[in-house]
Amino acid sequence: MTAPQHTTSQYQALDAAHHIHAFLDQKALNAQGALVIAKGQGLHLWDTDGKRYLDGMSGLWCTALGYGRADLNAAATRQLAELPYYNLFFHTTHPRVIELSELLFSLLPKHYSHAIYTNSGSEANEVLIRTVRRYWQILGQPQKKVMIGRWNGYHGSTLGSTALGGMGFMHEMGGMLPDFAHIGEPYYFAAGGELSEAEFGLKAARELEAKILELGAENVAAFVAEPFQGAGGMIFPPTSYWAEVQRICRQYDVLLCADEVIGGFGRTGEWFAHQHFGFQPDTLTIAKGLTSGYIPMGGLVLSARMAEVLVQQGGLFAHGLTYSGHPVAAAVAIANLTALRDEKIVETVKNDSGPYLQKLLRETFAEHPLIAEIQGSGLVAALQFAEDKATRKRFANEHDIAWHCRTVGFDEGLIIRSTLGRMIMAPALVASHAELDELVDKTRRAVDRTGRELNLL
Ligand SMILES: Cc1ncc(COP(=O)(O)O)c(C=O)c1O
Repeated sequence: MTAPQHTTSQYQALDAAHHIHAFLDQKALNAQGALVIAKGQGLHLWDTDGKRYLDGMSGLWCTALGYGRADLNAAATRQLAELPYYNLFFHTTHPRVIELSELLFSLLPKHYSHAIYTNSGSEANEVLIRTVRRYWQILGQPQKKVMIGRWNGYHGSTLGSTALGGMGFMHEMGGMLPDFAHIGEPYYFAAGGELSEAEFGLKAARELEAKILELGAENVAAFVAEPFQGAGGMIFPPTSYWAEVQRICRQYDVLLCADEVIGGFGRTGEWFAHQHFGFQPDTLTIAKGLTSGYIPMGGLVLSARMAEVLVQQGGLFAHGLTYSGHPVAAAVAIANLTALRDEKIVETVKNDSGPYLQKLLRETFAEHPLIAEIQGSGLVAALQFAEDKATRKRFANEHDIAWHCRTVGFDEGLIIRSTLGRMIMAPALVASHAELDELVDKTRRAVDRTGRELNLL
């Protein structure tokens, strides 16, 4: 391991002096000091004081294979020595990106045929916006350019992806654009009222139909959504939702675009989250689990139907990124996808570790006085804090409660995340039963401490 150059407090002071962090109040963070993570192995992380944490979030839903994989390291090192950089501009390419596509499309359902690689999920969604608009231009419908997203959806932090997402506080920071619209999220616990889950799923889907009719189907390019909302709180829609959304998109000739940045590559127990929910998107946005986060890479996957139009009729495709299909990233992605496939990791999530975690969470929290809902599949889950389970009454200060839980979780040596009133978790896909026991045990301790310390029990 690289010898530390500074003490923890020196690192924190330098960090405060030079960095603007993601999604927080910098002044408040600087007063407290950021946690400085120095090392990772398997599912565990160590900070600069040597304290050990179980990473219940795979970094940011990235490290599917956990930390410290020698095969990913070797793939990157080999590629750095052989060809550290080349690009896909001006009639050139390189073997690794071609091999990556060969492997990726062997894992994807057969109706997908082409990819445009990026460095991140945000960029992939930027490319999505321009690509679907181009698609409609080629088909003689240039006015078909409105992108419909969902309130509380998250698609990244660049300008287009922010506008596509439904985070109001991000829109307020210069993040809204014309030709973007939003519909409600399928969050039954919060908005289901007296309806059954199935009824609510249809109602939430039909908001899309109403929005398309309001805007005019001839103006709507695509509906973009996460199969389950990740950053929005690991919200799993009712089972009636996706089939109805698909019916509406087909009926009004609106592209259906799934953001698989979190759900892709095995998280739910299927290779892709849309397969878990049983619908067939026209495009997939991918990132994170593509390389297990060891190196940045994302991409936009297109159906053969769309790619055919772009390739055969499109002429100039006026887009390109210097690092698209970067050879080192492609080499790491190949090693990562090969391991996911050959070590049968996705099958294990589906048949063993996923059911194990979901059962353990339900055994542990079903009767807990503070937890009113447990959602999830495979190795992704959410616990909903609420005042009253029967009436689904949420705490007025649910955000503070969940944040407290996250903070005491860190104290207990657990990295867990909170979103509004939900605790969310997504451990590495290689998690053993013992590590899942540790995850649930530490979560239980954090929830109990939260109840005691905030006088909720
Ligand atoms: C569903 C989804 N889409 C897109 C993104 C943006 O990806 P990135 O942070 O790599 O730009 C994220 C990030 O968390 C995400 O969760």
